[in-house]
Amino acid sequence: MKINFLDLKEFVSPHATNHSLTEYIIKEMFDLHMRSSQTVWDRKMFDDELKREGSGFLICYSDGAADKADGGGSSGKFTEGDIDAFMKFDLQSRIIGFFIFYNVLDEMHILDITVAEEMQSKGIGSLMLDRVIKINAGRGIKDFFLEVRTSNLKAVNLYKKFGFKIFMLRKNYYEDNGEDALCMVKKS
Ligand SMILES: CC(C)(COP(=O)(O)OP(=O)(O)OC[C@H]1O[C@@H](n2cnc3c(N)ncnc32)[C@H](O)[C@@H]1OP(=O)(O)O)[C@@H](O)C(=O)NCCC(=O)NCCS
Repeated sequence: MKINFLDLKEFVSPHATNHSLTEYIIKEMFDLHMRSSQTVWDRKMFDDELKREGSGFLICYSDGAADKADGGGSSGKFTEGDIDAFMKFDLQSRIIGFFIFYNVLDEMHILDITVAEEMQSKGIGSLMLDRVIKINAGRGIKDFFLEVRTSNLKAVNLYKKFGFKIFMLRKNYYEDNGEDALCMVKKS
């Protein structure tokens, strides 16, 4: 299975004309979020974030006809070699992950990163994080911040793999269960 990435902000810029595709992407991204995330955003938060100056959305997608169980290359992990940069996004494309962030001055605040459940632990989160960090470091972003549930080992391990360090614990941060948040930062 080949994958590719889409910069959603570029796609919906004033020059983009295909509103049905934009609507399809936001709906699919929201459905994926509802299926896979413990921290729930409502649909309006996606729309508002998309309009906010400084926000960024990276979408990872595959061909809609691809086998859902396919796990990338021979290692079972997706790598740069599995990216088909010429694969077009259309109404049959399948969104398998997304990444939302917000940049202010030379800081990035990571707001959400989600991979479809059946595609997790196959390297997609790493590919998205790597791509976003490299592109934005090249644009002058120096510090990358995020908050994560203390119980979310997969996510904490992903961030540690990319050099994020815990700098603070926010007690009772999550309203749904009173869980603490780890505040993490990566300095470039
Ligand atoms: C967190 C999440 C984005 C990670 O994406 P992913 O595609 O599964 O991550 P990767 O396959 O690239 O794995 C990256 C690292 O995470 C860790 N990891 C992956 N699967 C793991 C598992 N089952 N248990 C523990 N750690 C795991 C490993 O350290 C891995 O590095 P390695 O492959 O070099 O060993 C994804 O699991 C997800 O969408 N979770 C639900 C939403 C969520 O919690 N988002 C985070 C909000 S802060």
